[in-house]
Amino acid sequence: MAEATTFHDAFIDELRDTYDAEKQLTKALPKLAKASSNPKLRDAFESHLQETQGQIARLEQVFESLDEKVRGKHCDGIAGIIQEGKSIMEEDFDDTTMDACLIAAGQRAEHYEMAAYGTLVAWAQTMGHAEAAKLLQQTLDEEKAADKKLSGLAEDGINQRAADAAHTDGDDEPVGAAAGGSTKRSSTKSRRR
Ligand SMILES: [Fe+2]
Ligand SMILES: [Fe+2]
Repeated sequence: MAEATTFHDAFIDELRDTYDAEKQLTKALPKLAKASSNPKLRDAFESHLQETQGQIARLEQVFESLDEKVRGKHCDGIAGIIQEGKSIMEEDFDDTTMDACLIAAGQRAEHYEMAAYGTLVAWAQTMGHAEAAKLLQQTLDEEKAADKKLSGLAEDGINQRAADAAHTDGDDEPVGAAAGGSTKRSSTKSRRR
């Protein structure tokens, strides 16, 4: 009878899943970059593509440090997130709304990766794979920085411009009215108490 699958096997399996996820992302990131109108956003996706290629090489080092064959295993999770990103790119949004939506799609991928690498670092540490843990931590830090950069771009104007574009036709509530000093409140807000 075959031996039971161990925690170490689960760790290798997670590494293979993540290796495949990174490979899928090297195909998705150029598409996100191309769909971006904001040059800083395009740069962010392009520079993260370079980083992602480095992360693939780093995972290969991790496999080597564990005397394991470099191999991927299809990652369904990231495939789903990438598919959602594709659907967004097929929408007919104005440029700045598209940028806001691309950030949302990109951040979903980063958070998925942060969850994967967070687990991998913890497992590597617990099993005493110090070299692997160190390499995986470097990638985790890069994923967190990439996520933060996207948040910065969203908060630094992209979301606001998308909101402004959505409220220029006068059909919607004047969301900027309160900030402009007006005492007029929207009908939904005035329903309080
Ligand atoms: Fe990555
Ligand atoms: Fe990433």
